[in-house]
Order: sequence, then C-alpha cells, then structure tokens
Amino acid sequence: MIKQLSEDLKNKISAGEVVERPASVVKELVENSIDSGADEIKVIVEKGGKQLIQVTDNGSGINSDELPIAFERFSTSKINTFEDLFKINSLGFRGEALASIASVSEVKIISKVEDSDGFEMLIKNAIIGSIEPAAALKGTSITIQNLFYNTPARRKFLKSPRVEFRKIVEMIRRYALSNASLSFSLISDQRDIINLKSESLEDRIVHVMDPAYRDQLLQLNYIKGDYSIAGYIGNLNLVRTRPGEQYIFLNGRFIKNRLLNSAVYNAYKSILNRGEYPFFALNIVLPHNEVDINVHPMKIEVRFKDEWRIYHVIKSAVEEAIRPILDTIPDFEKPTLETKFDFPTTFIPKEGEINPSQETFDLNSLSNSDIKFNPAIDRAKSYASQLASRPEPNSGKVDLENIWQVHSKYIVSPITSGLVIIDQHVAHERVLFEEAMAAFDNNPMAAQTLLFPEIMDFSPDEFISLLDVLPYLEKMGFRIKEFGNNTIMIEAIPSEMSWGNEKNIIKEILDNFLVSQKEHSSFQEALAASFSCKAAVKAGDVLNTQEMKELVNRLFGTKHPYYCPHGRPIIIQLSMDELDRRFERI
Ligand SMILES: Nc1ncnc2c1ncn2[C@@H]1O[C@H](COP(=O)(O)OP(=O)(O)OP(=O)(O)O)[C@@H](O)[C@H]1O
Ligand SMILES: [Mg+2]
Repeated sequence: MIKQLSEDLKNKISAGEVVERPASVVKELVENSIDSGADEIKVIVEKGGKQLIQVTDNGSGINSDELPIAFERFSTSKINTFEDLFKINSLGFRGEALASIASVSEVKIISKVEDSDGFEMLIKNAIIGSIEPAAALKGTSITIQNLFYNTPARRKFLKSPRVEFRKIVEMIRRYALSNASLSFSLISDQRDIINLKSESLEDRIVHVMDPAYRDQLLQLNYIKGDYSIAGYIGNLNLVRTRPGEQYIFLNGRFIKNRLLNSAVYNAYKSILNRGEYPFFALNIVLPHNEVDINVHPMKIEVRFKDEWRIYHVIKSAVEEAIRPILDTIPDFEKPTLETKFDFPTTFIPKEGEINPSQETFDLNSLSNSDIKFNPAIDRAKSYASQLASRPEPNSGKVDLENIWQVHSKYIVSPITSGLVIIDQHVAHERVLFEEAMAAFDNNPMAAQTLLFPEIMDFSPDEFISLLDVLPYLEKMGFRIKEFGNNTIMIEAIPSEMSWGNEKNIIKEILDNFLVSQKEHSSFQEALAASFSCKAAVKAGDVLNTQEMKELVNRLFGTKHPYYCPHGRPIIIQLSMDELDRRFERI
C-alpha cells in the first residue's frame, strides 16, 4: 500500500532533486519497474528522451485508487518506519521520484493489477486528472512528454539528442548488468537498440558490452564472513585507457566509489600501467546495516560502516580471480627502453597497501582528520615514501648469448630467478597487434613492394566492404590498387609478413569486417588481431639468435607483453624454487 511518510521520517530522508536529464527519468522509472517485481522492462525514447520517454513493465501494477497518491511527495509503499531505513531491499524508498518527475513534465500512467481492469491517469501542469478505464496488460506503463516544459533553463542545458541518448543507454546498461535475469528492451526513434532476454551474467556482459568480451572474462566468487562478492573481471585484453567500464553494485544497486574501484585496480598490481582501466562488473552483498544508502537523493553515493574492510575484501577477491594471469607473469617488471633485458624484481605492496601509482585514489583528497584516525592511510603513506626512496632493485641480466629456440616453437632464456619460456608465435602476434593498432592512429607500418603484383577477385558485395577496409589495410602496410571489375592489385605487403600469405590475410580481415560491426570499439582490434595472427611467425618457423633477440626486445616494448590478443599467455616463468622443488633439492 502506498502511504505518506510520517513528518519525522520525511525529515530523515535525504531530499533533493533527482531529475536532471532524460536519463535520470529513465533511471527512476526503471528502478520502480524492477521494484515492482517485473521480469520484462521496455523503454521507448524519442529524440534522446527530450520528446518522449516511456517505460513499460509487467510487474505488480498499482491499484487504481492509489494512482494519485503515487505521485505525491513522500509517498511510498517501500518503507514505513524509521527502522525500515536500515534494511532497505528495494531500489526506491523515498517516495519522491514520481512526484519530482510529474512536477517538470506531462505524465500519463496506465496500470493494471492482477484480477482487476486497467486504468489510466494524466498529469498536466502538475494537475492530476481523472482516473479512466483503459485497456492494459498486468503491469505499469508511464509516458513522459515535454520534459522541463516549465523550467526552460534546464531544458536549454540538455545536450544534443545523441548525447542524451547515450546517457540513457549507459543507464540501462547498468540495470541490465545488475539484473541479468530480467528482459530489457530499448527502442529509440523507432529503432531497436537493445533487446535482452533473461540470461547468465556472462552472456549479459557480452551482450551489453561487446561481442569481443567473450572469453576475456574471469569469474569471481568470494565470500568472507558476512560479505560476499560475485561477478566478472576482464583480462588484460579488456584494459582501456579511459575509465567507464567499471561497474560496482552494492546489494544490486549501481554505486560509484573511488576507493572500491582502486581496490580492484590495485589487485591487478603492476600489470596495469598508470591510466589503464580494466573492465569489471562486481556485485557486493553486505548486511544491510553495514551501509547507509540514504546519503544522497540519487543513491549513487553510499556510506559504509567500514569502508576499508570492504576495500580489503574486494582486493583479495580480485587477486584470487586474477591469479591465473599473475601466475603466468614472471616476477619482473617490463623493462623500459633503456634497460632492455633487465628484469628487476617487482616491489609489490603488502596486502592492504595502496599502490600510489594508480591515479584513481588520491590521498590528498582525504581530510586531515581522516588521515589521523586511519592506520591504513598511514601505511599507504609510508609505502608511498618507501617507493619514492626505493633503491634500484637488483637486476638479473639475461645473457643475450643464452637464448635458444626449442622445437622451432619456444624461446628459452635464463633470468636471475629462474627461466623464462616465450611462445614465439603469440609473442610476435602481440608485437604486430600493438603496432597495427598504433598504425591506425599514426603512420602506416613498413611495406615491402612485391616484385610481381598479385591480382585478387571479389564478389560485388565483398568488394563494397573491401572499400571500407582499404584504409586500414593501407595502415597495416598493404599497398592496393583498384583494378576494375571487383578486382584489386596488391602492390606491396607489410614488410613483417612472409610472401604468399597476403590473399589469406586480406580474406580473413574482410570476413572479420563482415561479422563485426564497424561502430564497435572492438572493430579495429578485431582487424589488428586477425592481421597479427596471420602475419606472425608460426610454430615451426626457425629463428636465428638475432631474430629471437629482436622479438624479445620488441615484445617487452609492448604495453601487454604477457597476453596475446586472444587471451593466451605469451610468457611462462619457471622459478629456481620450482626447479629445485621438482628435483627434490628442497
Ligand atoms: N512501475 C511501478 N509498478 C508498481 N508500482 C509502482 C511503479 N512505479 C511506482 N510505483 C509505486 O509508486 C510509489 C511511488 O513511486 P516513487 O518512485 O515516487 O517512490 P519510491 O520508488 O517509493 O521511492 P524513490 O523516490 O526513492 O524512488 C512506489 O512506492 C510504488 O508503490
Ligand atoms: Mg522510485
């Protein structure tokens, strides 16, 4: 039953404006739909929500006599007493959202509860109209038009429909990720944009992010006392140079919290560079009394009873999930250009210490009083000063003459702490992949002119796609001329590639283009990946010492020397300890 909160409770609710833009309307309506027990939520928008927003669900519906009160301030069915504030199980609880929306727009609501007819009601100029019978399925549909009609300044500050639309998509993505068992659809300007059916979280991630996320996700499931964390983190192929794909949910609610994000980043340790952000979608389940959601009206910032405890639990959880990556990574840092073949031992902060090389957590942003009372921050500061005065680490130089190829497949070399084994194909693949990606933005890769240019035929529609891919091929070092009649002439190929392979590569790149969408962020990656896979040296190719040295050198010049673009490990380390153990010396 929807009721007005008591005066006392009203004063305890974090009040404030929640309707900033179309995406905030979508947020509030979708949250109401989820709270209503719906398993199907449809969103329709026009002109980025500036013209129309409609959210329809198949949830409980609202009794016709309760339709008016649902739009009154501080009226909710979700909490009743002060104590309820500390055990909130729903996304909403303030009883404010519909009232706020109705105060700045025109609203039409149609709702039907089980065993009753449907009814509709209009609200225009903040005046509630009569309740009329209407044809409806069980559930609720709310349509918003003329948003900010009475606050022209706010309307003027909205961005273009495209930008507002993107914010709506991002908003729906959050709810889709935290509710993989629910169906979501989004139609924008009559176009189907999102159509998700109930599925596993892994499939949901692939569907809302990018098909390239398939096989690049590590599952996480961690329980510590009454805390539990579950979800997925991305491997190194899903590392981006801009933030934006970090999702933390608290008891199913999307939240933003820099400290918790930094817990994840720090678990990746030195395998992440400064300014690199891995993908993650994690749900943290805490006892309700450990967290206060009633801090901010948007409920995106929350306050924890013990933020550092959660920090440690998340960090341990991610460290455990990430172990398969860390295990294959030798305990040395990537050498910088000046110190090629130096493998210093990494300084890894002790558990719980912050890695200050990550920008995301700024110690200076904390007030002095926080610092005084928080031993963890003291530890972090002493770690930071240790790091600043840290002496040059002992370095074990690889003896350049001690580098061998075994089975025309692996490169083996000793380092101080043991032995490294490098897969020559994936190593070269990583090098070419990063070079191709860099070439897309900058200068093309080196080309070698063919003595006898090659002719290649295509079907008419393949040829049209080829014209789209041509600029990328040229960046990779191909020189191609149109030869008329759906035919091209290949005049030069990337200098790194062996002859005779060019038609295969072009074919594969084209196939890739036909399946992957050009708008996908992964489009260029897919091109670079298929190029590098085909062009790289193969198992079975004999390399001389010079070629091996050059390959290892270039590998350590890449951003991610440990994983190939398809997620396979490039380097494996056998430590002296491991060898000694196996020979039963220790
Ligand atoms: N889609 C819906 N299906 C069923 N009931 C709904 C729906 N939307 C709103 N309601 C009812 O209307 C009430 C008011 O909604 P409103 O969003 O204003 O407040 P709330 O969700 O309780 O709290 P908050 O302001 O934090 O969102 C809800 O408590 C709920 O009972
Ligand atoms: Mg609500």
